[in-house]
Amino acid sequence: MTKIVLFENIHASSHAVFQAAGYTDIVTHASALSSDALLSELRTANVVGIRSRTQLTRERLEVAENLQAIGCFCIGTNQVDLGAAMHRGIPVFNAPFSNTRSVAELVLAEAILLLRRIPEKNARVHLGHWDKTASGAYEARGKTLGIIGYGNIGGQVGTLAESLGMRVIFYDIDAKLPLGNARQTPDLATLLIESDVVTLHVPATRTTENMINADTLAQMKKGAMLINASRGTVVDIDALHVALQSGQVGGAAIDVFPVEPRSPDEPLRSPLVNMPNVILTPHIGGSTMEAQENIGREVAEKLVNFLVHGATKGAVNFPELPVSPREEGATRILHVHRNVPGALATLNNLFAEHGLNIASQSLQTREDIGYVLTDLMGGPVDAALEDLRKHSFTVRVERFRN
Ligand code: NAI
Repeated sequence: MTKIVLFENIHASSHAVFQAAGYTDIVTHASALSSDALLSELRTANVVGIRSRTQLTRERLEVAENLQAIGCFCIGTNQVDLGAAMHRGIPVFNAPFSNTRSVAELVLAEAILLLRRIPEKNARVHLGHWDKTASGAYEARGKTLGIIGYGNIGGQVGTLAESLGMRVIFYDIDAKLPLGNARQTPDLATLLIESDVVTLHVPATRTTENMINADTLAQMKKGAMLINASRGTVVDIDALHVALQSGQVGGAAIDVFPVEPRSPDEPLRSPLVNMPNVILTPHIGGSTMEAQENIGREVAEKLVNFLVHGATKGAVNFPELPVSPREEGATRILHVHRNVPGALATLNNLFAEHGLNIASQSLQTREDIGYVLTDLMGGPVDAALEDLRKHSFTVRVERFRN
């Protein structure tokens, strides 16, 4: 029986997917567990599902002797030692697109709120003021939205913004197919000079660290708005604070910070706190009920495709093989090995020695790991699996249920 352990209150949409595929031994935990309790679960789990709070380090993975796959029911996978998992033959899956739309909608809403100066107006009304004025308030229609990082989220933001009548330009290090009427700028400076609202959708890398700093803020149109719902390392917050105070930047909406509070009761420490023209949100760009439900379904489907077919498409740390239907009457074998010359020949010779015929086979390699799925015909496979298990190049060998 495959034991699935889900931590951190993973959405029930995942259970429905597991159950529909016949996996009913599901243990759920409402939160992350302390180290000892976690290790005790890891010892017996075949599949674990986590979110961002459970750290699966090399040492912890070592005790997880029965573990076949890990599902990160979120976007990031930094909480897992991906290399250690790969070398144990354990694929790790995540949900890179499930909350794309949620982030895009928030960004668009913030662009409108900033252009209308709603953060200040909202605060003033709550304080008993009724400043009824159109001064400094603009429609989004006809304004230029500059998107830095035109990937999944950036592209979606651009499409939604065009439906509002915004002009969309984007800057990306890669050449990208523009959606709708969007236009790629040759460099960051061109985007900053032309945009009324600048929004960031890049990953946290060496090239994006503090890409919005005193120099790039100075290149922006005077009074333009800045939105960051990407990663906290991308904006130099002190420089933004200065630019907001001087009016060089007209307003900002910031969802991610260089250092974020670790618990609900810890306040955010940032010079942007209490600035009237700034919207601050607690890293909830992608946090909606729809996104949680999508994530539950998306990751569970990937795990089921692995458990049933051996498919690893979308794995973040593993050679990727797509779902392939099993040959009629065949037994499917999973073999993970060290990526050494002649590995496939050795594997196939061993099958032949045991009188097993190969009906179909797929191999994919990644770094120093090779992954083979073989559909075998003829005779029981147990003796061949036993020999394979003992072979020095084998990392993992499994037989799929019939
Ligand atoms: P993606 O990988 O689809 O797109 C990123 C884009 O940035 C790519 O087109 C890439 O070529 C580009 N890029 C990389 N380095 C660049 C550079 N130096 N200059 C210009 N472009 C560069 O990523 P996706 O899914 O669109 O996510 C974007 C960001 O949003 C990520 O940092 C992600 O962590 C963050 N995110 C934040 C959420 C939140 O709750 N606030 C939720 C989901 C994602």
